[in-house]
Amino acid sequence: MAEVKTVKVTIDNITVEVPQGTSILQAARMIGGDVVPPAMCYYSKLEGSGGKCRTCLVEVSKGSEADPRPMPKLVASCRTGVMDGMEVRNITSDRVKDARNGVVEFLLLNHPLDCPICDQAGECHLQDLGYEHGKEATRYEFKRRTFEKHDLGPYIQLHMTRCILCYRCVYTADQLTEKRVHGVLSRGDYAEIATYIEKSLDNNFIGNVIDVCPVGALTDKTFRFKNRVWFTKPVTAHRDCSSCCGKVTLWQRGEEVLRVTARKDQWGEVEEWICNVCRFDKKKTSDWTIEGPSHVSRHSVISQGHYEHLVQPKETFTAVHDGRHPQLLMDIHSVSEVNDKTAKTKS
Ligand code: SF4
Ligand code: FES
Repeated sequence: MAEVKTVKVTIDNITVEVPQGTSILQAARMIGGDVVPPAMCYYSKLEGSGGKCRTCLVEVSKGSEADPRPMPKLVASCRTGVMDGMEVRNITSDRVKDARNGVVEFLLLNHPLDCPICDQAGECHLQDLGYEHGKEATRYEFKRRTFEKHDLGPYIQLHMTRCILCYRCVYTADQLTEKRVHGVLSRGDYAEIATYIEKSLDNNFIGNVIDVCPVGALTDKTFRFKNRVWFTKPVTAHRDCSSCCGKVTLWQRGEEVLRVTARKDQWGEVEEWICNVCRFDKKKTSDWTIEGPSHVSRHSVISQGHYEHLVQPKETFTAVHDGRHPQLLMDIHSVSEVNDKTAKTKS
C-alpha cells in the first residue's frame, strides 16, 4: 500500500500532522476544542459541500515552508487545503473575529428572529452563532425577504424565510436519492429552496434533509410544535431495518417517542443516514431496542435536563437511623383537627 504523505500545520499555535490534502477545517477538527471554526454549509459526509456560508473563514499567516508569504485575504477553511509548514489563525486573529461577526450579521439579515416558536431552537447552529457573534440589534432597514409557501409533502415542512442557502439539503437529496425534485431556484436575493412544481419529496431517504439543515428551514412535520427539544430525552436505539442501518436517536418525553433522528457526531453531522420508515413510522418504544441515554455536549441546552448522569438521591432517613426503615411517619389527619369539620362543631 502506498504510504500517505503527511504535512505539518499550526493552527492557533497548536501543531498537528495530517495527511496531505486535508482541509484546514478538518485539520482543526483533529485538534478539537475552540480552534475549530464553525461550519454552516460544509458537511463532511456530503461531497462538494462547503464554500457557501463563509462562517469558517480563517487567516493564513504563513502559506507554507516553501512559500512563507501570508495569504492576502481570509480563506474558507473548509475549502482550503493545508500545506507543509502552514500557519493558521482562527480564534487568535482579530481579523477573523471581525469577519465572522460580519458574516453572522449578514446571515441574520433576512432570518426571522422567531426562535421562541421555531422547532429548531435549542439545536440550531445559527442560534448558537448568533449568541457568540451576533449583535443586539439589526442595522438593516429594508423589508425582509418573504416567500411563497411550497408544499413538500406529508413529512417535511419548508420554512423558506429561515433558509440560509447552505445547499446541504440539495446535496443530500442529490447523493442519497435517485431523483432529486428540489433545488435552489433563482439567484441572489431571489434564490430559494423549492420543488418548483410543488412535488413532494417522497424518496425513502429524503427525511435526512431535516437532519442536515443547520437552521429551522426544514423541520419534521410529525414533531412540529409537539415539544421543545430541551424537554425531551435523547435515547440511543436501534432496530433491524432492511433499508438503512436502523441506528437512531429517539427523542422521548416519558415513554412517548416524539421524534426519531439519525445519530449525530460531535460536529453535529449525521453518523449514518436513516430511512423514512425508521424516522416517521416507528414511533413506539416497542419498535426499538434501547441502548441507553445519548451523550449530549454539556454546553448544549438539551443537556440541561441532566438525564444522562442522573443519580438518585440517597434515602437520608434510613442513613441517619442506622439502616432502619421508617414504618409510618405520621398521618397528619389523624393527629390534627385542622381539617376535621366534626371537631369544630364539637367545640
Ligand atoms: S433548507 Fe436548510 S439545508 Fe436546505 S439550503 Fe436552506 S438552510 Fe440549507
Ligand atoms: S463552512 Fe466553509 S464556507 Fe461554509
